[in-house]
Amino acid sequence: MEEALKAIAVLTEYRYTMDPGFCVLGEKWIPRATKNVASARRFVRDLAADWNTAEDTQEIAELLTSELVTNAIAYGAADIPATSTIRITVGRDGEMMTVDVYDSCTAIPRLRRATHMEISGRGLPIVKDLSHNWGWTLNPYGKSVWFQLVAWP
Ligand SMILES: Nc1ncnc2c1ncn2[C@@H]1O[C@H](COP(=O)(O)OP(=O)(O)OP(=O)(O)O)[C@@H](O)[C@H]1O
Ligand SMILES: [Mg+2]
Repeated sequence: MEEALKAIAVLTEYRYTMDPGFCVLGEKWIPRATKNVASARRFVRDLAADWNTAEDTQEIAELLTSELVTNAIAYGAADIPATSTIRITVGRDGEMMTVDVYDSCTAIPRLRRATHMEISGRGLPIVKDLSHNWGWTLNPYGKSVWFQLVAWP
């Protein structure tokens, strides 16, 4: 219980100390199951459409969200309860749209360049190549992996 309260406090701090210029457009929590990648993709795509983002933003945001959410589902530590959730937050800061995917695993992503023979290791290079900026932010209970696109030039 104490751990849960601490986790809530950290999340609250994380959510409300963001730059005041940053505006949250939407947030969605999904259970950690592969079938839910589809609804996360739709959520981000619909938000991008609702907010009249520039051409290509919807498709790119959907693709990159798919990579990050798939990773968040795949690499959660084995000791994390199956009831743990993944949070997808979409925000705007000026011309920039940020998509932030939070999971409750403190292992950090490892960007590498897959050789042409490898069938995995391509997700993060795609995020890096197609986004304006990307990265991750660690807290004691998990981390956010995020990307930004110039959505309102
Ligand atoms: N959310 C995450 N939590 C912990 N580790 C992660 C996370 N995302 C990525 N990683 C680590 O970074 C590595 C690279 O991720 P990346 O998405 O580039 O490749 P992949 O998931 O292994 O393969 P692919 O995306 O091509 O199916 C992963 O193999 C994993 O070790
Ligand atoms: Mg991946």
